[in-house]
Amino acid sequence: MAKPVKSFSCTKCAARYSKWSGRCDNCGEWNTIQEDKGISAGPPSKSLGARRGSSMALMDLATEEAPPPRTLSGLAELDRVLGGGLVAASAILVGGDPGIGKSTLLLQAAAAFANKGLKVVYISGEEASAQVRMRAQRLGLSEAAVKLGAETNLRDILTTLDKERPALAIIDSIQTMWADNVESAPGSVSQVRAASHELTSFAKRTGTSIVLVGHVTKEGQIAGPRVVEHMVDTVLYFEGERGHPFRILRSVKNRFGPADEIGVFEMTGRGLSEVVNPSALFLSERGEPAAGSVVFAGIEGTRPVLVEIQALVAPSPHSQARRTVVGWDGGRLAMILAVLEARCGIPFAGLDVYLNVAGGMKISEPAADLAVACALLSAREDTALPAETVVFGELSLSGALRPATQTENRLKEAQKLGFTSAIAPKGGKAVVVDGIAMRPMADLTAFVGEIFGAG
Ligand code: TYD
Ligand code: MG
Repeated sequence: MAKPVKSFSCTKCAARYSKWSGRCDNCGEWNTIQEDKGISAGPPSKSLGARRGSSMALMDLATEEAPPPRTLSGLAELDRVLGGGLVAASAILVGGDPGIGKSTLLLQAAAAFANKGLKVVYISGEEASAQVRMRAQRLGLSEAAVKLGAETNLRDILTTLDKERPALAIIDSIQTMWADNVESAPGSVSQVRAASHELTSFAKRTGTSIVLVGHVTKEGQIAGPRVVEHMVDTVLYFEGERGHPFRILRSVKNRFGPADEIGVFEMTGRGLSEVVNPSALFLSERGEPAAGSVVFAGIEGTRPVLVEIQALVAPSPHSQARRTVVGWDGGRLAMILAVLEARCGIPFAGLDVYLNVAGGMKISEPAADLAVACALLSAREDTALPAETVVFGELSLSGALRPATQTENRLKEAQKLGFTSAIAPKGGKAVVVDGIAMRPMADLTAFVGEIFGAG
């Protein structure tokens, strides 16, 4: 039988040793090292050694605890994306491209929560306090009771927060934070991880809600918000195209509410204003019915949003035809082109294909497949769709069409915005919405035949 392996540990700092010594190398204390004896409950584990842990109290799933308290900011678009207001002690990451408007959004949010009576601290690691104050002035928020600090030293920030104990602390940005116990430059993965860990633990320990701002970098997002995502309760991304005023706040993870919820804002000369009716906004630039333009009746989170999908198809001067996509997934476009070719015999070889979701919106819903296919065909055939028609439905590789979820919500939104007909897959529950004529399609071939008179 193998001789049992002895192990020793320090009673002060729990550092572990394979032999006894008088002084603990880890904490420097004398006479604190003792042999771990007979304390293993089960077979000694190879990696943990023979020392036994303490047994935990396990509990039932049933709870009498009240749900965590929430505070509404009054900015309805923000409150919805948070899942119904700010949850106490939660850690929230707000990511986005540099210059998209994160600091503007969070300064407005800070002021809104302060106006609701919360104690709010805003720490800027990027801008001097004078700059933040100037922004506040431009936004008309100078009177808000937000406490401002310009600092990057994490230790000082934590000490300040511990003293102030605000209900909400905003850290702008996590990439500028510097933990002095980590030997690497601010913005590196280990710094970002250490700072996020300290700040989220602080939130859990004290009840302060923490918002971490994170820049997404186009190149691979190293040290960007990705390394923080698993540590926080809620991940929001602030998206938009530079040339467009529309901004979308999207929840991609939320322990306290639905994910995929969106809030829509418009960047104006005086900050972000809420967009109450996003469909009207996204369709506002739409002109007369034209070839290649299709209105997709989509669902974002819990609400329907109509967006225009534009396609342009033209003979390619290049040996390899171009495929350019804005606001949608390039891989999914390739799939739809392949399905159109394989199942309906409509080739796109030798043709450049451009696809654009109007208004700077990004869509990821599979139900956009049919609208995209429709825009591509409409552009290729140079045929406009019948006016006031919305399209939605998922496309499978076989060319079959699958009904989308929440058909009724999509149709109601379309009806509200003056549309009169809808092209959607056959099957599923029949939904009737007054004023909308349904054109159900059995499969892609039927769709191509009926709409474009080809097949
Ligand atoms: P900012 O919030 O600084 O972006 P981020 O923190 O994401 O880097 O906003 C940057 C842009 O927003 C800047 O180019 C100017 C514009 N902006 C407005 O158009 N209106 C405004 O009222 C403010 C404050 C900024
Ligand atoms: Mg900023």
